[in-house]
Amino acid sequence: MRRTSPIRALTAAVLALPILVTWPTPPPSAQAPEVVVYSARHYGQEAAFDAFTRKTGVNVKVFSGQTGELFERLKAEAERTPADVLVTVDAGNLWNAARAGLLARIDSPELLANVPAHLRDPEQRWFGLTVRARTIVYNSTTVTPAALSTYEALGDARWKGRLCLRTSSYIYNQSMLATLIKRHGEPRAEEIVRGWVANRPILINGDAKLLESIAAGQCDVGVANHYYLARILAKNPAFPVAPFWANQATTGTHVNISGAGVTAHGKNRANAIRLVEFLSSPEAQQMFADLSFEYPANPQAAVNPLVARWGTFKQDDINVAAAGELQAAAVRLADRAGYK
Ligand SMILES: [Fe+2]
Repeated sequence: MRRTSPIRALTAAVLALPILVTWPTPPPSAQAPEVVVYSARHYGQEAAFDAFTRKTGVNVKVFSGQTGELFERLKAEAERTPADVLVTVDAGNLWNAARAGLLARIDSPELLANVPAHLRDPEQRWFGLTVRARTIVYNSTTVTPAALSTYEALGDARWKGRLCLRTSSYIYNQSMLATLIKRHGEPRAEEIVRGWVANRPILINGDAKLLESIAAGQCDVGVANHYYLARILAKNPAFPVAPFWANQATTGTHVNISGAGVTAHGKNRANAIRLVEFLSSPEAQQMFADLSFEYPANPQAAVNPLVARWGTFKQDDINVAAAGELQAAAVRLADRAGYK
C-alpha cells in the first residue's frame, strides 16, 4: 500500500487551498443593482443609460415596445411587474399610465428644478425629458413665411386644396386638439378644426410622409413635429420644407414631450428615481438633444445646432397634462368636425 508522504499531502492541500479560499463568490448578475425600463422611445437614449451605469454602477435593462403594448403589460403584471421605470412619448400616454395607477409620485427637488412646470405632471408622477414642437411646416419655394401666422389661420380660404394634415387618429394630433380645447374652449376649437376641414386637406398617415408630400408639391403647408424635418434636413439640406413657429403673437407653439415615470410596483424604487433624475440632468439631456433633434426639457442643455438655426420660439405653456385630460374630448371633436 502506497502511503502519501506528509509533504505531498501538505503540497496538495496548499495547492487546493487557494481554490477553496478564492472559490468565486461574485454576485450573480441578477444581484447586481439594476433598473428595469419599459421604453416606447426608440432612439437617442442608450447613451444616457450607459452614462448612468458608468456613474452609478447600476445596470439599466431595457425592454422596448409600442406604447399601448407596454401599457397593457404594466397593467396585466400589476404588482408582479419587473419594470421600475416607464419611458414613453406623448404626454397623453404618460397621463393615461398615471391615471391607471401605474406610476408612483416622486418627490424630487432635482426633477422639480430640472423640468419646467408645464412639462411635468402636477402630481409628479411623470416628467418631460424631451420637447417636440408640433408646428406649421411649409414649402419654402412656394410659400413665404409672411403668409403664415397661426394654426387657426390654416383654415383661411387661401389654403384651400393646399393643406396637408396627418389623420386625426394619431395621438400627436389628439394632443394638439386637446391643447386647442384647453386654450379656446370646445366651441372655438371646433370652429378652428372645421376651418381646416373646409380647406379639403390631404390626409396623410405619418409626419415624415407629410413632409415628403409638401416637398413633392402635393400641398404647400401642413403641421408636423419639428424633429422629423430636422432628420430629413440633416441628410438633405436642400429639402424644400421649412418650419414656421405657430402662434408666436398669441398662445405659443404647441409642444409635447417624451418623458418618464417610476412605476407604482417597481422593486428598485431608489435607483429608479436616480435614473429619472439623471435623465433630466444637463449631461443626459445633452445626449438626448444631440441624438434625436428634440429640444431638451432642461433649459441648461444646448439645442442641436441644426435645430438651433431655426431660432428660439415661444412655447404654449399650458401644462402638457391637457393632452391626457382632454384626449377623449379631442377625439369626439374631430369626429363632429369631420376631421378623419
Ligand atoms: Fe414621433
